[in-house]
Amino acid sequence: GRVLSVASECVPLVKTGGLADVVGALPGALAGQGWQMRVLLPAYPGLVDRLGGAQQVWQEADLFGAPARVLAGRVAGLDMLLLDAPHLFDRPGGPYSVDGRDHADNPERFAALSWAAAAIARDGLADGWKPEVLHAHDWQAGLAPAYLRYHGVEGVASVLTIHNIAFQGLADAGLLSALRLPGAEFHADALEYYGNISALKAGLVTADAITTVSPTYAEELMRPEFGLGLEGVIAARAERMHGILNGVDTAVWNPETDPEVHPFGLRSLGRKAANRAALAAEFGLEVPGPLAIVVSRLTDQKGIDLIPPVLEDFVAAGGGLAVLGSGYPQLEAAMRAAAARFPGRVGVHIGYDEALSHRMFAGADAVLVPSRFEPCGLTQMYGLRYGALPVVAATGGLADTVITANPAALAAGAATGIAFHPTDALAFSQALRRLVALHAQPKLWQSLVRTAMKQPVGWEMSSARYAALYESLCH
Ligand code: ADP
Ligand code: GLC
Repeated sequence: GRVLSVASECVPLVKTGGLADVVGALPGALAGQGWQMRVLLPAYPGLVDRLGGAQQVWQEADLFGAPARVLAGRVAGLDMLLLDAPHLFDRPGGPYSVDGRDHADNPERFAALSWAAAAIARDGLADGWKPEVLHAHDWQAGLAPAYLRYHGVEGVASVLTIHNIAFQGLADAGLLSALRLPGAEFHADALEYYGNISALKAGLVTADAITTVSPTYAEELMRPEFGLGLEGVIAARAERMHGILNGVDTAVWNPETDPEVHPFGLRSLGRKAANRAALAAEFGLEVPGPLAIVVSRLTDQKGIDLIPPVLEDFVAAGGGLAVLGSGYPQLEAAMRAAAARFPGRVGVHIGYDEALSHRMFAGADAVLVPSRFEPCGLTQMYGLRYGALPVVAATGGLADTVITANPAALAAGAATGIAFHPTDALAFSQALRRLVALHAQPKLWQSLVRTAMKQPVGWEMSSARYAALYESLCH
């Protein structure tokens, strides 16, 4: 079968978060299941130059204000389609914002992406390729299923995946006709969200299937604490909702072959010590107990504000922390202040650094993920792979990927980390106390690390679930 995947980010071309990793990994994962996937992405500055064998496969004379075309080519083994629309995408800044402010025309920019996707799904490309499934990711592609539905297009199924419901793609109601949306659909059971247009909601009510990136988050989304006003819409479509866990790229995240680290594996666990020493040196730390890391966007979602309150006890118990991240200025400042308060025990690197993140997972004893909500999360899985035990809030995909070291799991030899609930400083602090206690029992600790490293965190199981979903929609 053939799938058109539509998103605003894709590794290795453009990434602000896990969405890009997942969009970039799905084509390879699904190829093994008999599905050929092409990825449609905006042609942000410089991307067209990276396309091998570029060929024009689609065009429109006026796509939201000026001509646009789609170029097909290969990038790092992926079949890419780039929407070349300079009036929308050739500009300074990131994919969504410049100097911390959203691009004012984001509604039009991503409506254009979604429009092109729907047109390709309906008519196919000039090279003769036509998908059976359109797979849209997050609000930026949310209007693609809506355009298909509103234009009565048949013979192509649509899937919308929610990676993060905190971003809903709201637009002023006055933009309805500019966004090529039918006024008759502007009501609470369709694309209206409290007086605005919601691109995400439009996708949720029109897609043939909805997925999100973990089974627990699929259930959480139907509750007011997590659904952010869309819980009713999602609950009403519960039988079309599927929670499919993300995987990680086990070729890139492999401690035995990772070029950034001193290689180690299950049969050479002793060599992890060299990575720990290098990590401590790189951050200027000397840590007698567990050396923990955080690699994260520094935002409210990630519970970063819960870190300063737990540090005093953790450090007093022998723990240490290395942080890599960037995000909200107040949280960056709070992390810097923590490093200043606990010299030699807490180190902070503000920024985005893929290579450093690999060295951190290789050297760490634990990775902390105290998220308030987490659709899936990838860093706890990197931690499992590299023997850095995850200490996570028991929510969303964190709850689905970490087996907490309670007495039953320890007795069964199944534990792989620590999950705490609720997401507050007290529960987090108690989890860190358990971490210190486990770390003080070397034999038990070793067995936990081994169990963690053996967990299947690749795409094998989930790619089969996506394939089964696509197949069910085509028949
Ligand atoms: P989210 O998409 O919500 O940010 P995920 O855990 O799904 O959370 O994905 C985050 C991805 O971004 C992971 O691959 C993680 O390693 C990476 N990442 C986040 N912050 C940094 C950073 N400062 N440096 C390097 N990689 C980072
Ligand atoms: C979002 C979520 C994260 C998830 C990622 C990829 O950014 O915040 O939990 O892992 O999407 O699906």
